[in-house]
Amino acid sequence: MGEALQGLKRTKMCGELREEHIGQIITVMGWVQRKRNLGGLEFVDLRDRTGILQVVFGDEINSEAFQKADTIRSEYCIAVTGEIVRRESPNSNMSTGMVELKANTLKIFSESETPPIYIKENLDAAENIRLKYRYLDLRRPDMQKIYMIRHKAAKAIRDYLDKNGFLEVETPMLTKSTPEGARDYIVPSRNYPGMFYALPQSPQLLKQLLMVSGFDRYFQIVKCFRDEDLRANRQPEFTQVDLEMSFVEADDVIALNEGLIAHVFKEVLGVEVKLPIKRMPFKEAMEKYGSDKPDLRFGMEITDLTEVVKTSDFKVFADAIGNSGSVRALCLKGGASLGRKDIDRLGEFVKTFKAKGLAWIQLKEGEVKSPIAKFLKEEELQGIINTMNAETGDLILIVADKNSVVFQSLGQLRLDLAKKFELIKDKNEFNFTWITEFPLLEYDEEEGRYFAAHHPFTMPMDEDIQYLDSDPGRVRAKAYDLVLNGEELGGGSIRIHDTKLQEKMLEVLGFTQESAWESFGFLLEAFKFGPPPHGGLAFGLDRMIMFLAGTDNIKDVIAFPKNQNAFCYLTQAPNVVDEKQLDDLRIGVIKKED
Ligand code: AMO
Ligand code: AMP
Repeated sequence: MGEALQGLKRTKMCGELREEHIGQIITVMGWVQRKRNLGGLEFVDLRDRTGILQVVFGDEINSEAFQKADTIRSEYCIAVTGEIVRRESPNSNMSTGMVELKANTLKIFSESETPPIYIKENLDAAENIRLKYRYLDLRRPDMQKIYMIRHKAAKAIRDYLDKNGFLEVETPMLTKSTPEGARDYIVPSRNYPGMFYALPQSPQLLKQLLMVSGFDRYFQIVKCFRDEDLRANRQPEFTQVDLEMSFVEADDVIALNEGLIAHVFKEVLGVEVKLPIKRMPFKEAMEKYGSDKPDLRFGMEITDLTEVVKTSDFKVFADAIGNSGSVRALCLKGGASLGRKDIDRLGEFVKTFKAKGLAWIQLKEGEVKSPIAKFLKEEELQGIINTMNAETGDLILIVADKNSVVFQSLGQLRLDLAKKFELIKDKNEFNFTWITEFPLLEYDEEEGRYFAAHHPFTMPMDEDIQYLDSDPGRVRAKAYDLVLNGEELGGGSIRIHDTKLQEKMLEVLGFTQESAWESFGFLLEAFKFGPPPHGGLAFGLDRMIMFLAGTDNIKDVIAFPKNQNAFCYLTQAPNVVDEKQLDDLRIGVIKKED
């Protein structure tokens, strides 16, 4: 049976012991990392959150403790009391390597079976096992370090926002569906059978109401829920640093938030983020990088060749331009040495982004090699080479199509080539940029209507409001995203604070007066009572921690994450519930035949 504390107090943490503690009698508590028997002595590496301390048991020090130590195994939970002494053979790889604990008494709180995963750094174990035994996975020092970083970042965020006059206010988890665009997680109501709450995709509307309430500046570190396809940087429940400010314009929100980022990176990593962070309009990001979250750690920008080939007879180019698309290209330095197979593979790659093909021109020593040379006039071929600033040794990669396909395929190809050819030189670089002047609306061809690019409460740019009826696709928004190394770290906007304009916006989105009031009546109603001009932003905290901790897997930074199919290996959620629970909710489950 495991022993109890019985008044025993821990006096030191394992990782803090140094030469200055030599001679002190101390008590430490933790887990057995490993144990070995050497020359009649038992050596135990004892681990707690702060590090590892060598403990030595010997017959001559205390024979009862020595014999008891013989029974302990890896991951037993124990307490040891004894004297800190100088180590005969110091270990410079350990922070406590100058000293060891001469054990006088040993308490065994609990035994441990052999753990299914190694408790060590850089573990290479199957993910489902790591997630099933997450509490053991979290014993590993590299995982614990991530949660210390997460804690420190959250504290730095709170400190900064507190200093800047923000109030932390909680908003409900059982709420009404908010229109962020993903699928909701819904919760059935017992009091109102057939009715459902939605878990918040974000506190968007509620934080706007807090501005109507006069809270002036609100923030919250808050769970958000979205039932969407999961990827390396998405989880079904994730955490936002959500904030909203009154009486501000976009520049104010941007300045406050870049100050926040600089504070967090300084506090957690000691890294200086140079302010102000550069800004790039959405249009430029798309045209140069084919993405609204461009990775600016390397160049290789997309170049527009439409002008150069606009009178070309080459059908592929002529068709694209004729359908108001474009012809654009990348120039890969040194790419002339690529073999046919490698280039074909790049062609297959762009096809996954709906490009119909990838035309290429290789500038080899003394010869130009290209499958499309025969379709082009000499001056067109030369015009392309000149416009691309291509030199001997380079490879030009061209896509002709409608713009959305050209941007996406070349944008993704750019990232793929950067990985393959190691174009990102400085792995420690943090390259921030604000993307601004987003389109307010996006046209969905399948549904034949406009959708809000950010959300329906985003303010159009003053000079574009006039086009809301005549040319909605042209209207830009007072919206901004913060991008770091090609990932969206956060996004926000100035909001509409006028009922009339809000109703107009909802009308453009296809709502009738009636359906708008049904969905967002509580917001429209609130706007009747003196709403202040306001705007805000939300950061993805998990993504921020991924950068601070240097991991590219979001599951590493969430203590108890779901897998790629939104399943929890630890608790086995989601799962069935009792018939009684379903009866209370008046829910019947329809069994689907597979
Ligand atoms: P948005 O939808 O852009 O904005 O979300 C803000 C930030 O949250 C992070 N994020 C996610 N992180 C992990 N897993 C997910 N599934 C996930 N989805 C989003 C991203 C993103 O930039 N209410 C607005 C903000 C505002 O306008 O103030 C909103 O939610 O880093
Ligand atoms: P084809 O005449 O279809 O054999 O095409 C000739 C070359 O043009 C091939 O190298 C194709 O990969 C390339 N190609 C075809 N469609 C496109 C396109 N939409 N954009 C760029 N290149 C293309």
